[in-house]
Amino acid sequence: MSSPATSSQSLAAAKSSTGPSAGTSAAPASSSAASAPTASAPTAACAAKVGILGGGQLGRMMAMAGLRLGISCRLYDESPEAVARECGELIVGQYTDLERLSIFESGLDVVTYEFENVPAAAAQHLAARVPTYPPATALATCQDRLAEKSLFRSLGIGTPAFAKVDTREELDAAVKTLGLPAVLKTRRFGYDGKGQAVLRDPRDVAHAWTVLGAGAAPLILEAFVPFEREVSIIAVRARPNIAGPASPATTPSATGPTADVRFYPLVENHHAGGILRLSIAPAPHSAALQVKAEELARRVIEKLDYVGVLAVELFELGGELLANEIAPRVHNSGHWTIDGAVTSQFENHLRAVLGWPLGDCSPRGHAAMLNLIGAAPPLATLLALPGAHVEMYGKIPRPGRKLGHVNFVEQSATTLARNLAAARPIIEAAAC
Ligand SMILES: Nc1ncnc2c1ncn2[C@@H]1O[C@H](COP(=O)(O)OP(=O)(O)OP(=O)(O)O)[C@@H](O)[C@H]1O
Ligand SMILES: [Mg+2]
Repeated sequence: MSSPATSSQSLAAAKSSTGPSAGTSAAPASSSAASAPTASAPTAACAAKVGILGGGQLGRMMAMAGLRLGISCRLYDESPEAVARECGELIVGQYTDLERLSIFESGLDVVTYEFENVPAAAAQHLAARVPTYPPATALATCQDRLAEKSLFRSLGIGTPAFAKVDTREELDAAVKTLGLPAVLKTRRFGYDGKGQAVLRDPRDVAHAWTVLGAGAAPLILEAFVPFEREVSIIAVRARPNIAGPASPATTPSATGPTADVRFYPLVENHHAGGILRLSIAPAPHSAALQVKAEELARRVIEKLDYVGVLAVELFELGGELLANEIAPRVHNSGHWTIDGAVTSQFENHLRAVLGWPLGDCSPRGHAAMLNLIGAAPPLATLLALPGAHVEMYGKIPRPGRKLGHVNFVEQSATTLARNLAAARPIIEAAAC
């Protein structure tokens, strides 16, 4: 194990290891949708320059967390309207445009991403030039529900029963084997419940097959899990020592090669219409489950040689956990950490990919997060809610769109429940 290092030693080590570009980063927060980033004089104030593929709300919150540490983030997105543009330099381009990606990576210390559907070619192109985390294998696994569930199985982690479906014959055979109800899903590109159909009756099969493209895209059938609740675990693993002593593995609790893995408390999640509405953290009555969730997340992290924040979505059934899916990035069920944990998931992800010391994942109290979906109550109404920490993403309202979230953190579970009871009907009445 490495000897202890102070935070400033590690930051210096991280910087000096990044080659000639380190220390010559362009100044942050200039939107350069049309032009290449300009080389500017070294700025002592810029501790590191991080590139984020994707400029949505996750990139926006990550860039905001970076600003507090003197990290400047450069975002890459297909849209000039990407909402992260207000928090860092935005490069606009297609993910297939390797020339544009080369402009993006110029002068960066590290590249990461805020969504998992980054084309493999783009990830490989960047990884060949700049340290890129999480690793490409993690990305590839999370892009395909079949690969993801097969990974869980290979690690001895329970999942809903599943079967690959490429043809109508395979669907009929899978329905026979798994029984109904079941969920038919596209293997790739699903989010917020999109690309899914629940089959409750044999008569639903033909319709679901048509709705999901009649074999145009590979599918997976999953047994429907009558779960008691949905929970998620958010883990973070620091990039191994990149120059000199590694700080993350030197805290007093560190005991072995995987000691730089940390876990937030288990989160209880409530969905409606396939979209996350409410998270409660720590999930009530979850002490035994926490141990199980950490153990299974650790197995995934070790197998993928993972670096960064990883979320594992789980179904709780009869005291056991079944893995639904993993997200190789910061996650909606971790937004509560902005106000409710000592270190937010966004800051910890940046620390992890830079090889900096990880922050404390402990909760500051009892926390909850309500998503603002489709339409939000007037800002004045939200701000007047007792205990509310409001975060808006700067998006134009549209049905089903995540526009922002409201966090609540209280020392007493009773007060949290009271504040939630006051806020929930108002936020849910506006949602669409
Ligand atoms: N096999 C299943 N049994 C029961 N419910 C399921 C099953 N699969 C998915 N669901 C429900 O549908 C929700 C969305 O499914 P899933 O997480 O697989 O898709 P997603 O579109 O990737 O979601 P997101 O991007 O919001 O995490 C789950 O959170 C769960 O509520
Ligand atoms: Mg999910």
